Amino acid sequence: MKTRRVYVCRECGAQNAQWAGRCDACGAWNTLVEGVSRPAATSPPRTPVALADVACEAVARWSCGLAELDRVLGGGVVPGSVVLLGGDPGIGKSTVLMQALAHMSRDLPALYVTGEESSAQVALRARRLGLDAPNLKLLAETDVEAILAASRTERPRVLVIDSIQTVYTPALGSAPGSVTQVREAAAALVRFAKESDTALFLVGHVTKEGQLAGPRVLEHMVDAVLYFEGDSGSRYRLIRAIKNRFGAVNELGVFVMTETGLREVSNPSALFLRQDAENAPGSVILVTQEGTRPLLVEVQALIDESASANPRRLALGLDNQRLGMLLALLHRHGGRATFRQDVFVNVVGGVRVTETAADLAVLLACASSLVDRAVGRDLVVFGEVGLAGEIRPVPRGQERLREAAKLGFRRALIPQANAPKRAHDWGIEVHGVKHLLEALRYALGAERPEGPIPTGGPGGE
Ligand code: TYD
Ligand code: MG
Repeated sequence: MKTRRVYVCRECGAQNAQWAGRCDACGAWNTLVEGVSRPAATSPPRTPVALADVACEAVARWSCGLAELDRVLGGGVVPGSVVLLGGDPGIGKSTVLMQALAHMSRDLPALYVTGEESSAQVALRARRLGLDAPNLKLLAETDVEAILAASRTERPRVLVIDSIQTVYTPALGSAPGSVTQVREAAAALVRFAKESDTALFLVGHVTKEGQLAGPRVLEHMVDAVLYFEGDSGSRYRLIRAIKNRFGAVNELGVFVMTETGLREVSNPSALFLRQDAENAPGSVILVTQEGTRPLLVEVQALIDESASANPRRLALGLDNQRLGMLLALLHRHGGRATFRQDVFVNVVGGVRVTETAADLAVLLACASSLVDRAVGRDLVVFGEVGLAGEIRPVPRGQERLREAAKLGFRRALIPQANAPKRAHDWGIEVHGVKHLLEALRYALGAERPEGPIPTGGPGGE
């Protein structure tokens, strides 16, 4: 297909051969952006059909040999699907895709396109990983037209582009990695994947701000967006689906980085708990459930007198805005102020918790640090806290309770509405609460003080 550089108006979509400050067609200023024009494909006009008449077989899935990755994808790789894998440099994107591709190349033609490393470097990694993949083809190329030409000859069923930021369209003048380049290159590759029913994996880098570099635009072009998460200091790696047309979002896959690549961790629920931890104030165990599997994590809070007129609020692994809201709740409905304190909250192990079911655990961790009293390590907590201080139910309460019981926790502090209605023999004592004050009283024995609300902690009034 012949392509040609054009300038497209963002307002009206008119194409111009030359850049200009003003669009000739609609008269808007500064709306022309670089693009490429492709001859329109001539397809016969289609007529609408009844929804019930549309044939749809169950989607076939290929296993990539890593059960955790299969699960995050929604049960395996879907032919013709496009998956964007994002993550910090060095976190393991190339490693996991090389492992997956090597496995899939046993039964399917597979092509790994590398734009960042030489073929020799990639081959060296594969060897170090001990991968046996005689049918896996490698291509060191960054010109998208050349990649497409090679793909049309090789006809892979699985194609990896590592990374999309290195791929460029020669028809465009802008530098590789620019938004226009990344979008055009990705569009051409996506079109190829859909036409040829090839499963396509695009590796994308993440900027310091935690966004996929430039191409947030890519997220809507692909079927699934997976993010690699994890502490650089820890060996654990998480892959999370933040968008998936073929499976559940927020599904988490857990891996550990070893000498010989990524190993899956199939039973990770207690992985992020420090087994040897003592019963310290400010630490609360949360049962989180993102995706289809409960995970127990430790939420830690440190509240200390601030030396600054603007005390700091910092949430790691949690939403900073929500922390501000929870601290206001703690003051208004829990009678504990933190105006003069720095507040730090962290989820141990580099896990990101995005669900509101973490509210109660975060609040209790803060209160526990503030009054310097531990809640006990036999206790697990979950629940959303509303603006009136009410404790609201969360999805899948029973599953969370069962998992905590299985791991030997003996007490659970949860929303009343999530408490089991009938007697159960899970071996965990369930304490359901309706209001924040009840929760604070149960966990810390704190009563709402009489008179004016005190500022908690040392240095308070
Ligand atoms: P890599 O997959 O190259 O990261 P990305 O493609 O996301 O930039 O992973 C690089 C890191 O993983 C590197 O710091 C070394 C480490 N590693 C291992 O610990 N064991 C291994 O077997 C491999 C291949 C890499
Ligand atoms: Mg890489």
